[in-house]
Amino acid sequence: MKLLIIGGGGREHSLAWRLSKSKKVKKIYAAPGNPGIAQIATCVSILASDIPGLARFAEEKKIDLTVVGPEAPLALGIVDEFTKRGLKIFGPNKNASRIEADKSFAREFMQRFGIPAPKFQVYETVSEAHKYTKTINKFPVVVKASGLAGGKGVFIVNTKNEYEKTIDEILVQHRLGEAGKRIVVEEFLTGQEASIFVLTDGIAISYLPSSQDHKRLYDRNRGPNTGGMGAYAPYPTNRRVSNIIEKVIIQPTILSLKDYGVHYKGVLYAGIIITSLGPKVLEFNCRFGDPEAQAILPLIDGDFLTPLLAVADGKLSEVQIKTKNLWSICVVLASAGYPQDYRIGEEIEFKSKLSTKTLLFHAGTKNEDSKLLTASGRVLNVVTMHENLKIAKQRAYDEIKKIHFKGMYYRKDIGNSGMKKMKRKRRK
Ligand code: GLY
Repeated sequence: MKLLIIGGGGREHSLAWRLSKSKKVKKIYAAPGNPGIAQIATCVSILASDIPGLARFAEEKKIDLTVVGPEAPLALGIVDEFTKRGLKIFGPNKNASRIEADKSFAREFMQRFGIPAPKFQVYETVSEAHKYTKTINKFPVVVKASGLAGGKGVFIVNTKNEYEKTIDEILVQHRLGEAGKRIVVEEFLTGQEASIFVLTDGIAISYLPSSQDHKRLYDRNRGPNTGGMGAYAPYPTNRRVSNIIEKVIIQPTILSLKDYGVHYKGVLYAGIIITSLGPKVLEFNCRFGDPEAQAILPLIDGDFLTPLLAVADGKLSEVQIKTKNLWSICVVLASAGYPQDYRIGEEIEFKSKLSTKTLLFHAGTKNEDSKLLTASGRVLNVVTMHENLKIAKQRAYDEIKKIHFKGMYYRKDIGNSGMKKMKRKRRK
């Protein structure tokens, strides 16, 4: 079979790597891909947003399945276009992608169907948004742009002044463009966060390993928000919480989407916060998480193409997904200055060879003059696995010592919260 992977980050490298293990796969293309993906696939320079260009390429190369990594092409309707042309594709259509691409739609959907979520308000104008300070006026509060803002649309606002400044920037100065046409103002919740992933063809549901992302830049969850500085998997929930996630969040969401006339096919990523009142949905995403995919995909046992094809064909109930009884750790190596201004073009050097057990996914790299250079804020993902989470972590950090680029920054505590949770579980 011939596959086309859309995207060019660490998530897409892990998808290409996982799918390259399938005996049924004869050829993988990636658009646009990256130097890491190029080791296992042919990269073609078509942007992930060029839907007609991608469809033409898939027709020309007779691609058997296209797998979409990022949310932007899904929100632009890549699945609708491919389906119209009779091309098989993995991912939700434009209407279903609104679960991520239109946060006011997602919140109203959750409210209507009783999916546990923070309290929220939706505002379109500054005068409407002032109602919040005149009535609820509780801080901190979360202000989100309703549309896709490339990870830059969520603000934790601590005071009335900050709130007024934020709504002015989004609704008056249009700093986030179209994404900020509407805002969602949400109750600020505290608790551990978990990323839950399920494959669904709209009816059947298959659970993939859960994970925990580390969104803040610095250790112990301090500093600015980033796209994600690392992840471990699986996330160790207890039975009671897992049951609520399954029975009160995931199953009703898939069923209600169908009742609501939304045909959801693909991966559904639920960002959950486990509060003292139980798990609640912080956000739904219509794609795999990054860097969670890099941690969860190595834990899947057996062929991964079969379930993706089954989702696209509406036959997921015929497929079982097995997972390895291991822990996995993904540490993101980032450029100095990320997530604000950062330098690119630094040479990446390997002081010695990485262990053959280690996975190295490229997130933002480029080849120039036979050198591997940094090309983005998040540069590389180092992934290790073991039966023991502490050993998996130790291995990841030992491997990182072999890699160098100027200004290389990474968190040192990826996996610590999982270890703490496991300790508490053992004491109970
Ligand atoms: N891990 C965060 C995201 O993929 O949105």
